[in-house]
Amino acid sequence: MEKYSDKVMDHFMNPRNVGELKDANGIGEVGNPRCGDIMKMYIKVKDNVIEDIKFLTFGCGAAVATSSMVTEIIKGKTLDEALEITNKDVAEALDGLPPIKMHCSNLAQAAIKDAIEDYKEKKTKDF
Ligand code: FES
Repeated sequence: MEKYSDKVMDHFMNPRNVGELKDANGIGEVGNPRCGDIMKMYIKVKDNVIEDIKFLTFGCGAAVATSSMVTEIIKGKTLDEALEITNKDVAEALDGLPPIKMHCSNLAQAAIKDAIEDYKEKKTKDF
């Protein structure tokens, strides 16, 4: 079996930004069709910037590590910047993922997209 990088192990053992964000104004929830794992992403957006972000997952170790890393990367970024980050960027920031686990990194990405869409939808309803 291919070994995980130290960074993947670190983010898996000590994931950052885990939990529920009580004052989130965007929530994304997606399932991975390949394995059935689930990811929930909470964002708090102010002036187009992601001020805070947290995630919850019933996913594998690679899903936990990629979500943890992606929350660190996009915290403080604008919505557009956040949407530009690819799962490859995240995998690179973790010093790589075994190819068989690349699909797990899509989960965090998809959940963030979903959360941003949810935020935008809620915002247009306010007007
Ligand atoms: Fe399901 Fe990794 S095996 S997200």
